[in-house]
Amino acid sequence: TADIPILPGAHTHVFKYTGKLLKGPQTALKELPGYLGPILNFEQGQKVRIFFHNQLPEPCVTHWHGMHVPQLMDGHPMYAIHHGEQYVYEFEVKNPAGTNWYHSHTHELMASQVYQGLAGLITITDEAERRLELPSGEYDIPLVIQDRSFSQGNQLRYMLNMHQRMRGFLGDTILVNGQSDSAIAVKTRAYRLRILNGSNSRIYKLGWDDGTPLIAIGTDGGLLEKPQTFPYIMLAPAERVELWVDFSGRKPGSNLTLQNLAYQGSAAHMGGGMGGGRHGMGRMGMMDGASGQNDVFPVVKFRITEQIGDSPALPATLVPLRRLTTTDVTHPDTTVPITIGMRHMAFNLNGKTFEMQNYSEQEKIPLNSVQKIKISHDSQGMGGGMRGGRGGGMGMMMALPHPIHLHGQQFQILSRKQNNPGGAYDTVKDGFITSGWKDTVLVMPGEEVEIIKPFKDYTGLFLYHCHNLEHEDMGMMRNFFVS
Ligand code: C2O
Ligand code: CU
Ligand code: CU
Repeated sequence: TADIPILPGAHTHVFKYTGKLLKGPQTALKELPGYLGPILNFEQGQKVRIFFHNQLPEPCVTHWHGMHVPQLMDGHPMYAIHHGEQYVYEFEVKNPAGTNWYHSHTHELMASQVYQGLAGLITITDEAERRLELPSGEYDIPLVIQDRSFSQGNQLRYMLNMHQRMRGFLGDTILVNGQSDSAIAVKTRAYRLRILNGSNSRIYKLGWDDGTPLIAIGTDGGLLEKPQTFPYIMLAPAERVELWVDFSGRKPGSNLTLQNLAYQGSAAHMGGGMGGGRHGMGRMGMMDGASGQNDVFPVVKFRITEQIGDSPALPATLVPLRRLTTTDVTHPDTTVPITIGMRHMAFNLNGKTFEMQNYSEQEKIPLNSVQKIKISHDSQGMGGGMRGGRGGGMGMMMALPHPIHLHGQQFQILSRKQNNPGGAYDTVKDGFITSGWKDTVLVMPGEEVEIIKPFKDYTGLFLYHCHNLEHEDMGMMRNFFVS
């Protein structure tokens, strides 16, 4: 770790992040305040230096998810350090205002380390955002949503059988910022909610319990051009959404709850009720005791406690956005494929699983290019030989949705095309945000998602992978080589 270049002026802010894992007895029942890392507040243009000390008995590395940083600073698993070592991260904050996060990216240990708390939020501010005077301070609330399971002795429990390894971990307890049964006291005015799905594999369909539409003002890569209204929003692992919610006009003493709504993401997610099957366990639920994703359950409750005078108004426009189109693509005749597949009981991308420093011909990307990338999830034709397994476990596995994440610069979504419309897809299709900058996109079975992504500034290896952490650890990850 000695030859990391020091940026001039990099001393402006120094953060110390000491990795820790929760093992051994916890004091409070199902409550883990402070188990996440601290929130890092960055400013666009700022140079930051972060000292990462590994005090774990296992290797570890930290990735700054959503941040546009050089290869050496990106937390690639090849830079994992051992117990007692230190890695100094230094980079300039190029991203605009928004909500990102950091988490462990250790080879084959990412899922268990993130599960045990090696993650935290990053907020970024910039000039354009300050001019909007969005709700700030106590009216700007970060919400990290994670599902976890606990043993009888209130230990975090992370155990996977083969089935859970394939599908991904689903816990039976929802934590928000490390707390279960989250209730937040609010006043009668507007708030900004920064929501991160920090779960390993659970996909949420978020909606207000009284049917009020959701107002999105930001997504993974920052603020939207203008506020956008949704009946519900699908939030897959690693995705962020920023909501505007106005409690003015609501009665003190009343509640508004952000819920998970019913949906059918895929056959594999059917059944299972929150709270140990009180609502009737389906097949999958019974197999592992975890809860299904398609049930209605509360995520976080807002209790209106105080009446106050006035509230800021929702701005009609937020930040200027230049919409990328195919004319921006520098190599219009080559579309970069990301094809979701499965073979030998493991998911893959373009037929290959992770290789630490290898990449194929089609994964070579010219520096400073803008690429069109097509992510396809043809759940029907997947791996010929699997067809015989349809109706059984393998057929269900082929129909899993996958949140696909690309390191480096944020991208824009050009199109989403569903080849098997209707049915289950209708229960999720109105919840995708397709405007603004993204770094993670949920790809449903039968979908083809085209994105446009710039590869500016930095050469080297940049990962792309499924952000279902069990899938990622299984090798559903590859490198792009930018040169
Ligand atoms: Cu959030 Cu490669 O990760
Ligand atoms: Cu990332
Ligand atoms: Cu996946």
